[in-house]
Amino acid sequence: MIIRIHRGKGGKYDDFDIEAAEGMTVLDLLFYIQENVDPSLAFRYSCRGAACGSCAVLANGLPVLACKTPLSKLTKPAENGQVFLPVSAEIPGGGILLEPAPYLPVIRDLVVDWEPFFEKYRKLEPVLKAGGETPEKEYIVGHDESREMEKYTNCILCALCWSACPIVAGVEGYPGPAALAKLFRFYLDPRESGDIDRLSIADNESGWWACDFYTNCKKVCPKGVPPNVAIGRARKLLKDKEEGK
Ligand code: SF4
Ligand code: FES
Repeated sequence: MIIRIHRGKGGKYDDFDIEAAEGMTVLDLLFYIQENVDPSLAFRYSCRGAACGSCAVLANGLPVLACKTPLSKLTKPAENGQVFLPVSAEIPGGGILLEPAPYLPVIRDLVVDWEPFFEKYRKLEPVLKAGGETPEKEYIVGHDESREMEKYTNCILCALCWSACPIVAGVEGYPGPAALAKLFRFYLDPRESGDIDRLSIADNESGWWACDFYTNCKKVCPKGVPPNVAIGRARKLLKDKEEGK
């Protein structure tokens, strides 16, 4: 099978003819190439268990976690609901094309500089700002509230949603789906005051209102986080407030 991998800082690709073993993931394949064919191949990983979010790459145009994605998933036709972005040419004979995550500066091969993603994330102040009286013991968060927040706390900041989002690509200053979902998660948190002003930091044309609901974010998320739902709910709350409801 031909594996075509982006090399260097931009535009150059190397082909590797690899006999892929059954059950290999994209990350297994990268290790195989690094250990057996080209030790200079650079890629990022840490946990190898879909928990740290650092191994994001584009595989045949689809943003994926390399450690969670079996090669077999990439050699089959797209399943219903999957998003394949038209970013690259097909490999002759059904090979696999591996590229760095888009909309981030490439450092080398498959390694990108995540700073633009985290810079925008930090701007939304995604940390707990507890309001009201501090309880004598612990804060009590109800089961239902906890369940609701959990949808968003599951985010591992892998930036797959960022890589799949046409608005990230086209709107300067858009914080990206993960940052907006995290901001909404803190609005939901009963330990905060529940003040809608928490959402106003992104109440502008390049914030909540820039989203066009392509919903690629939810489709590619490896943790089932629905940033599109958070964005829709935040917009409704802000609109209701403006209309005095
Ligand atoms: S919302 Fe999902 S895809 Fe986006 S950064 Fe979080 S875990 Fe990754
Ligand atoms: S290596 Fe941690 S998510 Fe893949």
